[in-house]
Amino acid sequence: MQQDEQKKQAAQAALAYVEGGIIGVGTGSTVNHFIDALATIKGRIDGAVSSSEVSSARLKGHGIPVYDLNAVGDLALYVDGADETNRQLQLIKGGGGALTREKIVAAASARFVCIADETKLVDVLGRFPLPVEVIPMARSLVARQLVQLGGTPVWREGFVTDNGNLILDVHHLSILEPAKLEQQINNLPGVVTVGIFALRPADVLILGTPQGPKTLKVE
Ligand code: 5RP
Repeated sequence: MQQDEQKKQAAQAALAYVEGGIIGVGTGSTVNHFIDALATIKGRIDGAVSSSEVSSARLKGHGIPVYDLNAVGDLALYVDGADETNRQLQLIKGGGGALTREKIVAAASARFVCIADETKLVDVLGRFPLPVEVIPMARSLVARQLVQLGGTPVWREGFVTDNGNLILDVHHLSILEPAKLEQQINNLPGVVTVGIFALRPADVLILGTPQGPKTLKVE
């Protein structure tokens, strides 16, 4: 089965977690399938809080109201994709550059359902270059510190986040202690957000596979 079909399967399976109210919605090609699926049951929800301008536009295009997080408080459910996941449902995110708003909406949500195709499941995080959002004036400073941590940062040139910041993609990291590295990188002056989601991992992972969607949870 094609990778995109696996993403679509996972996205459609996530509808089972939608119980109404306002839904947290992430960013990416897998989430685009989720938004399209959500549109088929839009009468059962009140709207969405979105993690990016791109997702907001797609939600609105389907006639789903998009709310500011400040206006709605905590959410019951957040659905988002990932660039990598381990079996503890700790993630690397930010391939699409939306990591900061994704981390905010995940933090505001009681349940985080991650949707992905099976190529995203790894034993050790770090094969996918780790995105780090940085304040523009701190780009070189943060890059030097990321080298000290063993990585090879590459500036995602020409890309500006929805928050007006830059992204460094850090290659060659083998992330054996994701929560520790998340805290270390978060503490570097100039870092807005690191794309490790370990302190607040996903609660449920729906993986599209050739045999159909598989659900993983951390007990
Ligand atoms: C965007 C993200 C996405 O969730 C991640 O890049 C996965 O994307 P896709 O569903 O297209 O494979 O973190 O910032």
